Amino acid sequence: MPGVPDVTCVPHKIWSRLQNKHWRRSNSDLLTYGPGAGYAPLREAVAVHLRVARSVNCSPSQVLITTGIHQSIDIVVKLLGEHGDAAWVEDPCYWGTRSVLNSLGINTVPIAVDQEGMRMRLANLRRPPRFICTTPSHQYPLGMVMSLSRRRMLLEYAAAHKVWIIEDDYDSEFRYGGRPLASLQGMDTHDRVLYMGTFSKIMFPGLRIGFLVVPESLAKAFSTGIAELYRNGQVFLQATLADFMAEGHFASHIRKMRVLYAERLQLLQQSINRHFGEKMTITGGEAGLHLVLGLPPECDDVLICEQALQAGIIVRPLSRYYMHARGARRGLLLGYASVPNDEIARSFDKLAAVIKNALRTDA
Ligand SMILES: Cc1ncc(COP(=O)(O)O)c(C=O)c1O
Repeated sequence: MPGVPDVTCVPHKIWSRLQNKHWRRSNSDLLTYGPGAGYAPLREAVAVHLRVARSVNCSPSQVLITTGIHQSIDIVVKLLGEHGDAAWVEDPCYWGTRSVLNSLGINTVPIAVDQEGMRMRLANLRRPPRFICTTPSHQYPLGMVMSLSRRRMLLEYAAAHKVWIIEDDYDSEFRYGGRPLASLQGMDTHDRVLYMGTFSKIMFPGLRIGFLVVPESLAKAFSTGIAELYRNGQVFLQATLADFMAEGHFASHIRKMRVLYAERLQLLQQSINRHFGEKMTITGGEAGLHLVLGLPPECDDVLICEQALQAGIIVRPLSRYYMHARGARRGLLLGYASVPNDEIARSFDKLAAVIKNALRTDA
């Protein structure tokens, strides 16, 4: 299942000890509406983590706690955009980004990606949008890293045309090879980047906690905006997470999961090679929780996914992540993070049978 971490590995005992501590104290501040910007010690812990791990330039006052990346995009667009504005989105991109933008009346403009990330055409550059949504550290879903020259170009363009860059850094904690990367936000000297991340991949998606880092000058307005629009709560959960981070469990959990996911990735790559050798291209296998198995352009990847599901395997069709079906690359998103090591080869055998059958039928 792409995009889903192994939730069975969450350290239950530590988590319940920390959570119980807060319940026992019955601190009423943790049981009422939360402060707009989120629980202060969590904002502090997130700022420390982001400065060290992602070279994000921030103080705790710039960190706002949200319910995840969907809500972070929502608040950014509500406060900084207008109905009818344009947003450049990577093509292909995460469906959630497009859904949130479209629901707010934003026109999404697809920008193709190549090995260096977003590749703007002259026609695009002539019409600056209000927002540029990007996943520079690990393009979703294809997995490339935005090059330094593209990053500089994007930042300069945003500064010159007063464009807001929405940087979605959803899974960079899990990198197994390739270049180490800093965030785009860390290179920004003009305060044009809104940086966002999530605990969905590192911890578990059901936690529904994410964070948004905004320029200092916007922090107060965003805190008020979040309080007035959403009335976020779950402060006791935020308090538990803050302790989890401050006591060092978060860093060890990342280290442990990185080793486990790297093993699973390797097992999956071995299975792919065993069935298809060099015949199939694999992309995005250097970071994150999934890789993309390329398929020939004549393949119906949606149909393959439906057939795989009947065989008990959940995979996603790459073509569906593109804005338009015409010209979309075909492939399958294979999530390995949540599959136990000893099930990977067996599951891939079933998927390979479906793929081979489809390739024969198409030929
Ligand atoms: C690129 C990208 N951004 C955001 C998300 C979702 O983040 P959240 O769970 O914090 O809303 C996902 C989930 O798969 C994703 O792939």
